[in-house]
Amino acid sequence: MKPIRTERLILRNWEERDRDLFHRINSDERVMEFFPFRRDRATADAKMDEFRAWIAEDGYGFAAAEIAETRECIGFVGLFDTDHLPFLPAGTVEIGWRLAPEFWGHGYVTEAAEAWLAHGFETLGLEEIVSFAVRNNRRSTAVMERLGMTADPASDFDHPGIPDSHPALKRHVFYRLSRKDWQTRRRAVR
Ligand SMILES: CC(C)(COP(=O)(O)OP(=O)(O)OC[C@H]1O[C@@H](n2cnc3c(N)ncnc32)[C@H](O)[C@@H]1OP(=O)(O)O)[C@@H](O)C(=O)NCCC(=O)NCCS
Repeated sequence: MKPIRTERLILRNWEERDRDLFHRINSDERVMEFFPFRRDRATADAKMDEFRAWIAEDGYGFAAAEIAETRECIGFVGLFDTDHLPFLPAGTVEIGWRLAPEFWGHGYVTEAAEAWLAHGFETLGLEEIVSFAVRNNRRSTAVMERLGMTADPASDFDHPGIPDSHPALKRHVFYRLSRKDWQTRRRAVR
């Protein structure tokens, strides 16, 4: 992918120097509070390789975000094909995020996500971008709301990938943003 520059960030594909950070955001208890698994170094490395290959092929994905001034990688924000959720129509694209905790609370995710929404609607020509999170993951749903996404309770679902051993993580809330609503909001913000 061609790197995307925002006010404070560079959104780009994964690099070898990101492996420690990528492992940390897949194993840290705070970051992974709403996930049923923790990745060890080998499985984190394999997942990073997978993300990197998909991004190289498609030009988007769960891409690395780094602070432009310091070149520190802080986590990922990006667009992702939701073909792992068979009940969603083919071609559905989600927006998602995961940062190391010391970078929470600075608006970095919202800033990066705004750039990815623009990329999705303007460059990729998407009609809609969705997002979902465990019901209690307020930090994540707060990002969706900051982005102008709308809750769609009729589409809330029990995630098929969550094992029965983690019942509290099953229920997911669903948010949507149409291209039209994004354009209207963008005009209003300007
Ligand atoms: C979900 C997650 C990405 C949200 O990160 P975040 O830093 O809270 O999100 P934002 O970048 O939008 O930052 C918003 C916060 O920064 C503050 N902020 C500071 N400067 C800001 C700015 N310039 N613009 C916007 N917000 C700013 C906001 O007030 C808000 O703070 P608050 O949480 O105290 O209300 C993060 O908590 C995370 O990685 N969680 C673990 C992984 C996870 O659950 N991922 C989602 C799975 S669905």
